[in-house]
Amino acid sequence: MIDDLPSGLSARHLDEGDHLHVLGVLDAWWGGLKGAAGARERASLLPRLYFQHFTTTSFLVERDNGDIAAFLVGFLSQTEPGTAYIHFVGVDPELHGQGVGRTLYRNFFELVRSLGRHRVECITSPQNTASQTFHTRLGFTVSEVKPDYDGPGLDRVAFGIDLPSGPVAAP
Ligand SMILES: CC(C)(COP(=O)(O)OP(=O)(O)OC[C@H]1O[C@@H](n2cnc3c(N)ncnc32)[C@H](O)[C@@H]1OP(=O)(O)O)[C@@H](O)C(=O)NCCC(=O)NCCS
Repeated sequence: MIDDLPSGLSARHLDEGDHLHVLGVLDAWWGGLKGAAGARERASLLPRLYFQHFTTTSFLVERDNGDIAAFLVGFLSQTEPGTAYIHFVGVDPELHGQGVGRTLYRNFFELVRSLGRHRVECITSPQNTASQTFHTRLGFTVSEVKPDYDGPGLDRVAFGIDLPSGPVAAP
């Protein structure tokens, strides 16, 4: 499915059985960002419905022994027919900087392009500077901080990228 991952890793679409496994890695992979409030926020962002109804546009990367190495939860916008959305992405810290995140994004871009989408959007919290650098390196534009974007006290930064009309090269 994704043939350009580092050796020992393979990818497949998410399924419902992955739900608790993915929830189980969030705090460690996010490094406890924003403490207990951050942990509650992250868990609330991944209810089971994403593992039931958004599986065909979402990926799980596994090691040979079946351990989770990375995931990307994304979907096609129902409101904007040209847009796809990346809701959540995480890579095991042991694998950071090896291009796994970039590979997941590139494959998501190719998939949604094949489904008629030409724009990808996502958000992060202002405190997540690593995420902001990552998205900037991949060519996303970055908004100013949007206060209370996701509710009182839940400020966000928004990213967007227009996909090229030809083959999707490495962003
Ligand atoms: C953000 C994240 C997904 C990046 O994954 P990754 O596999 O390490 O990223 P890649 O190796 O593919 O890096 C792609 C580019 O982003 C840059 N980058 C990635 N993480 C970075 C960081 N923490 N600081 C600076 N640059 C970073 C890389 O240098 C690379 O740039 P370049 O090749 O143009 O020099 C990963 O750090 C992660 O899972 N973080 C915790 C969860 C999170 O914050 N998710 C995103 C918000 S929902």
